[in-house]
Amino acid sequence: MQAKQIREKYLQFFANQGHKVLPSAPLMPENDPTVLFTTAGMHPLVPYLLGEKHPMGRRICNSQKCIRTSDIDEVGDATHLTFFEMLGNWSLGDYFKKEAIEWSYEFLTKDLNIPLEKLAFTVFEGEEGIPKEVESFEIWQGLGVPKTRIAYLGREDNWWGPAGQTGPCGPDTEMFYWTGTDPAPAIFDPSDKKLALNAPHSDAGGWVEIWNDVFMQYNKTAQGNFVELAQKNVDTGLGLERVTAILQGKNNVYDTELFQPIIENVKILMTNAKSNPNDKMSNEERIRAERIIADHIKAAVFILAEGLAPSNIGRGYILRRLIRRTVRYGKLLGIEKNFTPEVAKIVVEMYADVYPELKQNQDFIFSELSKEEERFLDCLEKGIKFFEKLPSGQISGKAAFDLYQNYGFPLEMIQELVKEQNRSVDEGEFQKEMIRHQELSRTASAGQFKSGLADNSEQTTKYHTATHLMLAALREVLGDSVQQKGSNITAERIRFDFNLDRKMTAEEIKKVEDLVNEKIQANLPVVCQEMEVAQAKEQGAVGVFGHKYADRVRVYTVGSQENVCSKEICAGPHVGRTGLLGVFKITKEEASSAGVRRVKAILEKE
Ligand code: ALA
Repeated sequence: MQAKQIREKYLQFFANQGHKVLPSAPLMPENDPTVLFTTAGMHPLVPYLLGEKHPMGRRICNSQKCIRTSDIDEVGDATHLTFFEMLGNWSLGDYFKKEAIEWSYEFLTKDLNIPLEKLAFTVFEGEEGIPKEVESFEIWQGLGVPKTRIAYLGREDNWWGPAGQTGPCGPDTEMFYWTGTDPAPAIFDPSDKKLALNAPHSDAGGWVEIWNDVFMQYNKTAQGNFVELAQKNVDTGLGLERVTAILQGKNNVYDTELFQPIIENVKILMTNAKSNPNDKMSNEERIRAERIIADHIKAAVFILAEGLAPSNIGRGYILRRLIRRTVRYGKLLGIEKNFTPEVAKIVVEMYADVYPELKQNQDFIFSELSKEEERFLDCLEKGIKFFEKLPSGQISGKAAFDLYQNYGFPLEMIQELVKEQNRSVDEGEFQKEMIRHQELSRTASAGQFKSGLADNSEQTTKYHTATHLMLAALREVLGDSVQQKGSNITAERIRFDFNLDRKMTAEEIKKVEDLVNEKIQANLPVVCQEMEVAQAKEQGAVGVFGHKYADRVRVYTVGSQENVCSKEICAGPHVGRTGLLGVFKITKEEASSAGVRRVKAILEKE
């Protein structure tokens, strides 16, 4: 079965069970200061999992674009990917364990036709204050699953969330598929309960997790307590790439049509190359390099399609790393330069019908890739020369850091280079250099790579509303071509990126501040309405570049209907009246990337 069919079958199956099919939310979460990218389908749904009413109802499903960067070193093995699609269905206080498990079972065994003999399931064994999942166990058993194929496991395996420090979470039940050629073994043995699930999956086969049903019935508080949620939710995630590989009898995701056209293209580029590929590379290394290129280019294309350009900070830096690592592996394979846009074209074609934003933004995607590839090749040449001139033996932390800082080598690339040459780096000195470099340490700090939740505190709520007023003021002062390019709100400040190809003057900054403060003093109402996207656009509501919205959206209007100050499509939350905001002040205006400015702003108490 092709991935396209699996995606359609899944969404159709849950639509038949009363679910509204939503488009994928963006990869770059709008209101979440703690995550760089959407790592699971539940991210955009957090407010609704906590009890807010979702405009599309209580049963939702979609195919969500996800990026996970924590596994970057494992990319190239059988199952780890940077970009992947997560099929998910959600109950927002509607159905619960019985229906969720029964539908998972029905979809796997009937719609996907997977024999029960190849499946195993795990459930939560319980701990102090949280009961053992006898209910889930019995539901699986009631469906005909033998006891030896259901294992009770602890928190490490069968608990999901919260995605950040606080938020919805709960026990989960995970579904595994046996990819070995011999009959699937039992997974439960009272003396060694983890048994076969312990074996890491390899190209040779084993148990592979394919689907996770999370029962989000708790809210983890800032104090670390698990408080029972009034609303009981279901959050599920089925990895499209893995399930496609399994149904096609492939032992790794790269052998499916979700990657093969990209890899074929890389092979053609290799054949056409004038220079010879690195003949020191083993077959295995070559395959890994092809896979890394395919994975990274796909992820880069999807990120670029949302309007982000490579840079040295945050998401832009992740994007830069993905492109630069691709270029390096391309070079190792002997591929001629400016190949990244060529490979990207294949990705755009492959996904054009499901994710139209790729085609819509293809010129931006290709030109950014081309520019970044050129920039990096230039750095690479100089950096390699610098590297080769270093004295033999251990590489000083300072030299390694120079490669990062002055030659634009992503960190993992430096590590790879060092490893290839059987050398080592003075890690301690390197770390010191890194910490000195503020921006980098912020990006690399574990916190931002981990997933997290929107902080909906009073202050961030105020900042959300102030951001709308600021965008309106920026457009008034600088013109209607100004669009939001990104925003990041914490309890301390607003950070906001928008397009402008020059610095703002001091007068313009002052004007924007004055306009926002005028609106605050006028104590304007902030009204939320749900409506069709078409209607929102008709009313002139401002949206976000490259964002594909659900059919129904929320529109926040500041001001009266006759005298609208701002109208934006936004999930919220916002204050009820602008008078609550305090005094608005822009604290910084700087360049973010080419053609993009960044402002930081705060609200001071009157
Ligand atoms: N949120 C759950 C996961 O990512 C479904 O596995």
